[in-house]
Amino acid sequence: MSGPAREAVHPDLAGGVAVVTGGGRGLGRSMAAALARQGMSVALLDLLGTVEGEGARLHAETGVAAFGAVTDVTDPDSLEAAFQRVEAELGTPRVLVNAAGVAVWAHALDQPVEQWRRVLDVNLTGTFLACQAFGRRAVPAGRGAVVNVASMSATIVNVPQHQAAYNASKAGVAHLTASLAVEWAATGVRVNAVSPGYFLSDMTRQFTDANPDLRRRWEELTPLGRMGQPEDLDGLVAFLASHSSGYITGQSIAVDGGYTLV
Ligand SMILES: NC(=O)c1ccc[n+]([C@@H]2O[C@H](COP(=O)([O-])OP(=O)(O)OC[C@H]3O[C@@H](n4cnc5c(N)ncnc54)[C@H](O)[C@@H]3O)[C@@H](O)[C@H]2O)c1
Repeated sequence: MSGPAREAVHPDLAGGVAVVTGGGRGLGRSMAAALARQGMSVALLDLLGTVEGEGARLHAETGVAAFGAVTDVTDPDSLEAAFQRVEAELGTPRVLVNAAGVAVWAHALDQPVEQWRRVLDVNLTGTFLACQAFGRRAVPAGRGAVVNVASMSATIVNVPQHQAAYNASKAGVAHLTASLAVEWAATGVRVNAVSPGYFLSDMTRQFTDANPDLRRRWEELTPLGRMGQPEDLDGLVAFLASHSSGYITGQSIAVDGGYTLV
């Protein structure tokens, strides 16, 4: 089959409210647009000051209610304020996508502890804190779906770069996903994760721009022979957010062009 992929429609999502951390750009922004196209109202939470404009742009593009709020996922008070605004302006959130993250390459022998802690703090603790803020609303409401963004780095060790902190943080996200899925299983709240391979985004461009051979090497290591485009996650995030995946919880699903198979 050729031509552009057609998007599946999940009618149960229409009219619901989604919160997307890291929604200011990259994969988070793209997944937020996918949920908006299903008719969900969306709040974009991001450290970037440009997130407010992105919220307005998402509203203009899709017609759904949307806003962007500067939020730090490592700070529970910042998250609580953002979720209170979501409840006041959009309603009780039904879907949470945790895409906020940072990547750092470093040699373990000389990695400063502050850098290690920052990666764990944003990627793992930030994901937990956003799940907590969401769960405090979705569990009493008796319904909800979390889609965390783990990584293939949760299960493989990337080469040629060294990124122990990132890999450990994403392994943590995958097991946090499974743990919350079990803890909340009886409440009507499901928790899953997408595990991207190498995707084109600002996060990876900072590395490939400095080293063009790297992209070629990553593509050679990927059976499908290319890096992922942000849209490659759209169908899965909508599926995991919807009732169509109602019997799936605790899973981290690879979207990696086959990278983890070889
Ligand atoms: N690009 C890839 O190849 C790839 C592969 C696997 C997983 N991922 C994961 O996907 C997610 C999105 O990454 P991306 O590639 O779009 O990168 P990106 O850098 O474009 O997006 C990450 C976003 O997270 C935001 N953020 C960082 N710290 C934050 C904080 N403390 N509070 C709130 N927001 C914060 C950033 O401002 C940015 O907008 C990340 O979790 C990343 O680890 C990316």
